[in-house]
Amino acid sequence: MGKVIAVAQQKGGAGKTMLAAQFAVALAEQARVALLDIDPQGSLSVWGRLRAAAPKAAHEVPVEAVSGWRLANELEKLKAAYDYVFIDTPPVIDSDARRAIRGADLVLIPMNPAPPDLWAAEGTLKLAAEEKRKTALVFNRAPAASRLRKRLEAEIAARGLTLLPVALANRAGYANAFADGLGVTEAGPTTQAADELRAAVEALKQLLV
Ligand SMILES: Nc1ncnc2c1ncn2[C@@H]1O[C@H](COP(=O)(O)OP(=O)(O)O)[C@@H](O)[C@H]1O
Ligand SMILES: [Mg+2]
Repeated sequence: MGKVIAVAQQKGGAGKTMLAAQFAVALAEQARVALLDIDPQGSLSVWGRLRAAAPKAAHEVPVEAVSGWRLANELEKLKAAYDYVFIDTPPVIDSDARRAIRGADLVLIPMNPAPPDLWAAEGTLKLAAEEKRKTALVFNRAPAASRLRKRLEAEIAARGLTLLPVALANRAGYANAFADGLGVTEAGPTTQAADELRAAVEALKQLLV
């Protein structure tokens, strides 16, 4: 059975959709990966349609979209056919978000290394705790080093929460690749962004063993 990663965070713009797509494509270099879009906004599905026409899309990474009672069924189907399934969730905690978290092996919570993003993560952390799901925070659009980042790292450690040891920086490469229906590992396989993402993927895999 495949592993399910729900990408969740109540804060809009934290990078849920971006990370779901980027992690999925990078992981597709070595495994079978599918995406499930449960955000009614459907950004990931749009990316998937662009991807279908993108000549540089090196791997098949299907994007399914479902909601409501069909979610659990669809997830079971994808788990049976793929090694990893990433779920992109809306910035609300509703019954679909709960279903996604319930079905996940890991809840991945993207955040900018700033207090408001950690505050916004509390709802997701609480829900994951209620469902007894493993969680990992991941810094996105992170400065290489800043006092605030250090402070957040200390706070996360003090609370016994898991932080992915690889942070993703703010890079135009991520946004550009996404706009073309690609991941950075396809758009620029030898860029810093691709190296960073591949390192993040290895760290993510460690959390799933
Ligand atoms: N690491 C990054 N570097 C540059 N731009 C990013 C990065 N992560 C996200 N973005 C951009 O930030 C915006 C919000 O990201 P998105 O994934 O849509 O957030 P969410 O799904 O959490 O609402 C998008 O325009 C996206 O392209
Ligand atoms: Mg989104």
